[in-house]
Amino acid sequence: MRTVPGFRFVTQKSMRSLLVTGGAGFIGANFVHYWAANYPQDRIVVLDALTYAGNIANLSGLEQNSDYYFTHGDIADTELLSSLFAEHKLDTVVHFAAESHVDRSIHEPDAFIQTNVIGTHSLLRAAREAWLGRDDAPAIHRFHHVSTDEVYGTLGADDPAFTERTPYSPNSPYAASKAASDHLVRAYHHTYGLQVTTSNCSNNYGPFQFPEKLIPLMIVNALTGKPLPVYGDGSNIRDWLYVADHCHGIELVLTEGLVGEVYNIGGNNERCNLDIVNDICRRIDAVFNARPNLAALFPDAPAASGQQTESLITFVKDRLGHDWRYAIDATRAETELNYAPQDNFDSGLDRTIDWMLANESWWRAVMDGSYRDWLKKNYT
Ligand code: NAD
Ligand code: TYD
Repeated sequence: MRTVPGFRFVTQKSMRSLLVTGGAGFIGANFVHYWAANYPQDRIVVLDALTYAGNIANLSGLEQNSDYYFTHGDIADTELLSSLFAEHKLDTVVHFAAESHVDRSIHEPDAFIQTNVIGTHSLLRAAREAWLGRDDAPAIHRFHHVSTDEVYGTLGADDPAFTERTPYSPNSPYAASKAASDHLVRAYHHTYGLQVTTSNCSNNYGPFQFPEKLIPLMIVNALTGKPLPVYGDGSNIRDWLYVADHCHGIELVLTEGLVGEVYNIGGNNERCNLDIVNDICRRIDAVFNARPNLAALFPDAPAASGQQTESLITFVKDRLGHDWRYAIDATRAETELNYAPQDNFDSGLDRTIDWMLANESWWRAVMDGSYRDWLKKNYT
């Protein structure tokens, strides 16, 4: 998988020079491949600190593009930011870089404040310095901030889905740090006139997702015969979107969205965790049935010996402060930007499982390092 296929093109009005922060992470890497495939004339500069979640291998293939640059560095490094803005004459920032895993934020919140709040502020300050009140500033600029539905808090069963007007009510340190960053982005528009947009998206899944998040973790554990840990009773609900649809939504906000505005992006696809895990189990059983060669490749998978993958499901202690339900109302993006997700959950999940089956070396490599140490420290 090196490009994200099959999306309607949004006509481009001019060449851009983009800074993509966090471009070596899950959504950032998908976005960079997507953008490079659809906008080959644009310059893409990736800035990534390569934390445990960042993986330069996620960007492989792009080095063949003549106008692609990778910088290993921190979004809080103001000197580095100034030099990148000047050297590449950046006119667009797409800001993905973040600490992104709720469980980590519960155990080690400091890094979330540092990157998501302080780091975002450094980036805003650098953009303001480069773009506002200078003769050599680009005629048009855009700072796009990638955020999450988790800033809106949690929903009950009968509550309407989150709209752009839902009051913020973040519950985890992760959500609170993202909420703070959203407010800073808004303030830089309101106070200084920085041309910003923000998108708040529901849970993503797809290629390159670090196997600490629900869907890739369950796939990897199913293939390696490890327990499938379901928090609490598995009734918590998330609204799932295939990552390529998120990339397309961001493209639409960047190209068609109004400056200073917020757009919710989602998939109208609410599922409870236990249903997701059962669904993954059934699909893995089916794919092992259809492809007998998989048994030799993944001998520890129950499906390799004709057992049901669901035998691995294990209910474990619930997450602290676990939000019960998220749901996105994407009406604004649908009506104003013509946004519509192209993958449904069946096709997206099948693609994701196929990608994980075909990229065993990728997930083994990313799971060998700090993740295992962290998991051991906090969950044994
Ligand atoms: P990820 O954890 O997979 O990737 C984050 C990337 O940011 C990594 O490459 C990491 O190395 C980099 N990074 C971290 N700290 C950095 C720093 N200080 N300087 C530079 N780079 C740094 O995250 P993701 O799932 O791809 O999420 C990307 C963005 O999308 C985040 O802002 C997240 O809040 C948002 N988001 C994610 C989801 C989801 O379901 N994953 C949903 C909605 C919004
Ligand atoms: P996650 O993928 O961490 O995303 P988020 O917390 O940002 O929504 O978790 C998705 C849901 O799955 C969440 O309700 C927690 C649950 N979950 C489990 O039940 N077991 C797990 O091992 C993980 C990682 C998550």
